[in-house]
Amino acid sequence: MAYAKIYKSWQDDPEAFWMAEAKKIDWVKPPSYALDISRAPLYRWFADAQVNTCHNAVDRHVKAGRGDQVAIIHDSPITGTVSRMTFAELKAATARLAGALRDKGIAKGDRVIIYMPMVPEAIVAMLACARIGAVHSVVFGGFAAHELAVRIDDATPKAIIGASCGLEPGRTIAYKPLIDGAVEQAKHKVDFTIILQRDQLPCDLTPGFDHDWHAVQEGVAPAACVPVAGDHPAYILYTSGTTGAPKGVVRPTAGHLVALNWTMKNVYNVDPGDVFWAASDVGWVVGHSYICYGPLIHGNTTVVFEGKPVGTPDAGTFWRVIQDHKVKSFFTAPTAFRAIKRDDPKGELIGDYDISSLRALYLAGERADPDTIIWAQKIMGVPVYDHWWQTETGAVIAGNPAGIEALPVKIGSPTVAMPGYDIHILDAAGQDMPVGELGAIAIKLPLPPGTLPTLWNAEDRFIKSYLTTFPGYYETGDAGRLDEDGYLYVMARTDDVINVAGHRLSTGAMEEILSNHPDVAECAVIGVSDALKGQLPMGFVCTNKGTTRSDDEIIADCIRMVRDEIGPVAAFKLIAVVDRLPKTRSGKILRRTMVAIADNADFKVPATIDDPAVLDEIRAAVKPLGYGGT
Ligand code: COA
Ligand code: AMP
Repeated sequence: MAYAKIYKSWQDDPEAFWMAEAKKIDWVKPPSYALDISRAPLYRWFADAQVNTCHNAVDRHVKAGRGDQVAIIHDSPITGTVSRMTFAELKAATARLAGALRDKGIAKGDRVIIYMPMVPEAIVAMLACARIGAVHSVVFGGFAAHELAVRIDDATPKAIIGASCGLEPGRTIAYKPLIDGAVEQAKHKVDFTIILQRDQLPCDLTPGFDHDWHAVQEGVAPAACVPVAGDHPAYILYTSGTTGAPKGVVRPTAGHLVALNWTMKNVYNVDPGDVFWAASDVGWVVGHSYICYGPLIHGNTTVVFEGKPVGTPDAGTFWRVIQDHKVKSFFTAPTAFRAIKRDDPKGELIGDYDISSLRALYLAGERADPDTIIWAQKIMGVPVYDHWWQTETGAVIAGNPAGIEALPVKIGSPTVAMPGYDIHILDAAGQDMPVGELGAIAIKLPLPPGTLPTLWNAEDRFIKSYLTTFPGYYETGDAGRLDEDGYLYVMARTDDVINVAGHRLSTGAMEEILSNHPDVAECAVIGVSDALKGQLPMGFVCTNKGTTRSDDEIIADCIRMVRDEIGPVAAFKLIAVVDRLPKTRSGKILRRTMVAIADNADFKVPATIDDPAVLDEIRAAVKPLGYGGT
């Protein structure tokens, strides 16, 4: 078995394995060793190397004679346009924007926030930062001004690169007021912005502070690639944790290059020149790794898709994109397929297109339910590979190494550990569970190249969140089991993180917002099952005695507050006013029991419950929301 041999070669000598993979990257100064253990359990990879990400993603392909190959295809069914940019054009565009950033005072290590929709300029902006060693932090467009402000205060960027608007089906979202609002709210003051004006909704620019994307680049000398140390942060990507303060996942430059390059052939089975498409958003880790960096580092053409799986214009849009651009490997979240299946249950629209270029579909971002996998296999006629990873790892932890050897698919399992990952299922005391039994999924340290070395400005939080529960292991926050063949099954989160349409959100953050309502005495937010989005947040609030406002008014306020503070992406619409929340005698809210009631699942009434009668109140409260069974 080729996979077993490769995995064993990594197990036997991780240093040699990663040094060999590092040879596929262009270094300014190659690493003299792979792993630095001097600060264990904090590890660094290729720390003594000098390298540049933009050079590896762009310039080296031009130098190798691939300048005329298309690097980016932008396909926007929302605007009805398709455009292409070659590697030579991408090099010129990134060097120009990087030159403008440099001329405006951005230097190695400075942070730049990017808040843009799915346009090729978003990729140019990311690469332009990488070109001069600036650290970008991309914020998803579905987050509201408050979330943007939180990230501004944590990352303390010198600049924001934004666009005038984003386009959702049937709705143009003015981004500039959100950027202005965030700049206003944040304590940290940014020096300037660069704004891409889109024809659909241009915006006003404040002279001296806001710079037009094109005007700011006029006449500037293009910037060369600036070498950075192997452990220099390539970017910071904020992700949801258990509190309202998002975690700033740091991506180290050299490990990122080596790890992503490895996955392109070994997991996604594409060769340089092939077209790779990840239907996600640049604001998420999938977008970072597989819309921007992975395909470009490996010399693939990447598709930047501005649309939705349905409604732009119909459930056949994915098949059209695969056909038109001859996509070889395709990656999206299961929720996108559930949306297509809902609109076109028999998958009839696929018959209108020729998707013979496609070799496989890859799913991640949330648990892939068996129905969705089976449906996708049936209508697409290609292997469907579930794979499991996290923002923290930046690439696959467990997957099907189809480029090495396509392992048999076991539906419900993202398959097996990739080289670099030693996956364990632990009990509460940190002992390995017997095969087949459910426990916390933990990864033996060190994590492989490209994974987070720390959280931005929060080393203590990094240690506390990930390295403390199981000393010597990284705690993934997921629960699951391994079978006798080493296949992993990822079942649920062990914390307050929920997954809504493949978007990672924190119920704790929503609770913090609800508890700020003057009429709310107490609240709980849980993740309930949803046939389309996988999970949806559901809130329960207890109001203050004597409030003069009606329950309906309070509910409307709560929904608006979450939308205004976190953003529409929170999809927070289910909420009930209750007299009491179910608690243990020591006062802990029984959120898991509430989830079981809403999902109409079997559960045991916890022995520690204070008053079991409260459960009936919860049952009654979820019914009008369409939950709790019939
Ligand atoms: N900018 C502004 N608003 C955005 C946005 C963006 N980039 N992305 C989403 N939103 C808004 C939506 O318009 C929607 O607003 P509404 O409440 O006014 O309708 C809200 O945020 C929720 O969006 P979403 O969760 O995407 O739901 P949806 O109903 O619009 O679409 C799916 C559902 C399943 C079609 C869509 O989520 C999808 O394609 N997901 C799969 C792919 C994916 O991106 N996965 C991410 C990680 S791989
Ligand atoms: P994110 O950091 O947004 O990529 O979310 C990571 C989380 O999404 C993981 O910790 C899991 O809870 C969930 N997840 C991602 N991929 C899968 C998968 N293939 N199967 C089950 N859960 C997944």
